[in-house]
Amino acid sequence: MDTLQSLVAPLVEWYLATRRDLPWRHTRDPYKIWLSEIMLQQTRVETVKDYYVRFLAELPAIADLAACDERKLLKLWEGLGYYTRAKNLKRAAETIVSRYGGVFPNDVAAIRSLPGIGDYTAGAIASIAFGLPEPAVDGNVLRVLSRVIGSEANIDRPETKKDFAARLRAVYPAGRESEFTQALMELGALRCLPNGAPDCDACPLRGRCAAHADGSWTKIPVRAEKKARRAEELTVLVLVCRELVALSKRDQKGLLGGLWEFPNVSGRLSEDEVVKKLSELGLDAKILCSKPAKHVFTHVEWHMTAYLIETDRCSPAFSWVTREELRTEIPLPTAFRGCAELLDRTGGSE
Ligand code: ADE
Ligand code: SF4
Repeated sequence: MDTLQSLVAPLVEWYLATRRDLPWRHTRDPYKIWLSEIMLQQTRVETVKDYYVRFLAELPAIADLAACDERKLLKLWEGLGYYTRAKNLKRAAETIVSRYGGVFPNDVAAIRSLPGIGDYTAGAIASIAFGLPEPAVDGNVLRVLSRVIGSEANIDRPETKKDFAARLRAVYPAGRESEFTQALMELGALRCLPNGAPDCDACPLRGRCAAHADGSWTKIPVRAEKKARRAEELTVLVLVCRELVALSKRDQKGLLGGLWEFPNVSGRLSEDEVVKKLSELGLDAKILCSKPAKHVFTHVEWHMTAYLIETDRCSPAFSWVTREELRTEIPLPTAFRGCAELLDRTGGSE
C-alpha cells in the first residue's frame, strides 16, 4: 500500500515553487502556527490574514493570551464567528502557562490534550511547528487523497480519516514535514477544488491521479448526506434610549454562549405585539422602523425581523451601553451586526 509514497516528492517540490506568501508561513513559532490553524478552521484565508496580524500585535506571546481579559479577546475575534474557538485558545494558553511553564509542548499527545485542539490541529502544529511526521487530515486533505487514489470510502466516517492518517504518517518526508502538511492543504485550496472542476491541468499530481485518469472526480469524494439546516424565526429589539442601546447576555450554554446580543424573542412579532411585550416590561415604546436580517450558522439559520425602538427609560431588564462602546469595545456577534445597522438611522451623539 505505498501508492502515496510516489506523490510526496512532486507535491513538496510544487509547494516550494508555488506556495502562497501567507503571514503564518514566515514562522515556526508554535503559538503563531496554532493561532493560524484555529483561525483557519472555519474562516477563509483572505479573512484570516488581517485578524491574525492584529491578534499577534495585541497578544504577541502565549502569556499575553493567558492574561488577556475575555472582553478584549472577543473583540479581537469579533467577526470571525465560532467564538468557542477564542475561548478555548485562552483556556489552552492558561494550561500551557500553568502546566508547561509557558512553553508550548512539543509532543503530539500533549498538544492534542489542550482545549480546542483535535486530531487535525494537533497534526498541523506538530508537523508545521515542530517538524514531526504527523498528518493533519481535514476535509480538503481527504478530498485530495481520495481522488488521487480513487477511493470511494465515505470521507465523513471516522474510520476513513484514521485510515488516511495512517497511510500519510507512513510516508512523511524527513526534514520536510512542515512542507508536506502544507502542500496537501495548498493543493486542496488551489488545485483540487471542492466545487466545480478541479484544476487538473495545473496539478503536480496529474499523471499519478486515479480520479483524473478516469474522470471520477465528479463523484469523489463520497460524502454522507447533509442534514437540512433548521430555520428559526427571531424578533430582534434594537432599543434606544437617548444615546444608549440595550443589550443582554446570552445563556452560557448553546449557540453564541455567553456573548452579547440585542434583546430578542423567538417568532415573528408584529409591531403591535412588540409594543405590547415592552409595555409588560413597563416600557413605553415607539417603533421607528424595521428591517429583515438573516444569519446562517452551521446547523441553523436565523430569519430575523429587527425593530428599531425608542423607549422613554433605561429598563434595568437590560444592560445599556453607548453607541461608541458598542462600536469599539463590546464584541457583538456577526449574527446581530445586520440588525445594528438600524442604529445608523437614528441621530446618535457621534
Ligand atoms: N488551512 C489550514 N491550514 C493552513 C495553512 N497553514 N495555510 C493555508 N491554509 C490553511
Ligand atoms: Fe485533484 Fe485533478 Fe490533481 Fe487529481 S489531478 S489531485 S483530481 S486536481
